[in-house]
Amino acid sequence: MSLPTTDAADPSGPSAIPPNAALWFDAGRGVARALDQSLLPHETRALDLVDLARVAEAIRAMRVRGAPLIGIAAAFGLAAALRVDASPEAEARAAAALLATRPGAVSLAWALARVRRAVAGVGPGAGAEARAAAALAEARAILAHEIAVCAAIGEHGLPILERLWAGKRARDAKAPHLDVLTHCNAGWLATGEWGTALAPVYRAHAAGLPVHVWVDETRPRGQGASLTAWELGRASVPHTLLADTMAGHVLQRGKVDVCLVGSDRTTRSGDVCNKIGTYLVALAARDNGVPFYACVPTSSLDAELSDGVLDIPIEERDAREVTHVRGLAEDGTVRTVRVPPAGTRAANFAFDVTPARLVTGIVTEHGMYPASAEGLAPLLERARVG
Ligand code: MRU
Repeated sequence: MSLPTTDAADPSGPSAIPPNAALWFDAGRGVARALDQSLLPHETRALDLVDLARVAEAIRAMRVRGAPLIGIAAAFGLAAALRVDASPEAEARAAAALLATRPGAVSLAWALARVRRAVAGVGPGAGAEARAAAALAEARAILAHEIAVCAAIGEHGLPILERLWAGKRARDAKAPHLDVLTHCNAGWLATGEWGTALAPVYRAHAAGLPVHVWVDETRPRGQGASLTAWELGRASVPHTLLADTMAGHVLQRGKVDVCLVGSDRTTRSGDVCNKIGTYLVALAARDNGVPFYACVPTSSLDAELSDGVLDIPIEERDAREVTHVRGLAEDGTVRTVRVPPAGTRAANFAFDVTPARLVTGIVTEHGMYPASAEGLAPLLERARVG
């Protein structure tokens, strides 16, 4: 099953951009390519992930973003580094440089470890070519794996939406649609294909369930406004943009049936670290009796950590992302402007932690699990052995 789209892929550049893929391997040219998400929605351009420096910059500058996609890109970055120098020392240096690009996403460390294991697997006597080839093959396997995982999250999330829709229709036969609220972008742009939180939405839409999505703008970077709205528009999924400050109001007025979000890091006790503002959505959802699910690939579970509020490192980014906004001006040019007075000090915490007690369930590629240490134990055991 493939995602619906309303417009054709942009055929510009050295090779065409496929629809609904944030990162893909161009087998003809032998390079991984990715959409430059820092330009969306006003420009659709792809970048080549051809060398370590370029991949590291793309992750740091959030040209490539979203937890699973960061891991996939880093895997291709490590493979590109090994093509230049496949020595164990160069491999360790490249992995450390990629790991330092964004501290929050646990899938970054997971993907790099997978590539390094694959390289080690070719044996100590293997030549540079075999080591580099093993790295590239593993990066491609990680891409395929994460896409399959997101498709499975969609399958496991769909019955939740179907149940909520059946309940809503039983209460009100005239209810026009099921209202989902999402925060940030946890769609295919963040994952390769499908997405995490948006995968059940796409599945529901394809199955004919009338779904409408409230899209939090997601200040300061605006991933909801610039990316989620773009994705949902391409797939013709009805949606309405909200300034972040409006989420509490629509939840209080009964305009939301379920919140679906992604997660960059989920602790073994079910605390969810996601884009800044997620915690406030979860608080308002709980206060109004609205279910709140995190959609999470098991690659982003952190079995080492228990207390997310105490233990998860929170990325702090350049204050300019808060003080400045970028958009399309009336004259058709893309411009960046400053909002507060010059010299205003700004904080830029990029993530927050939603404690497990506010999370209704964790939807994974293996099914839905309670957000608690006991609830997640079987899943962690499964990940450990398999
Ligand atoms: O800073 P970003 O844009 O990389 O943050 C992305 C998110 O917070 C997503 O919700 C997250 O990665 C969820 S998994 C698709």
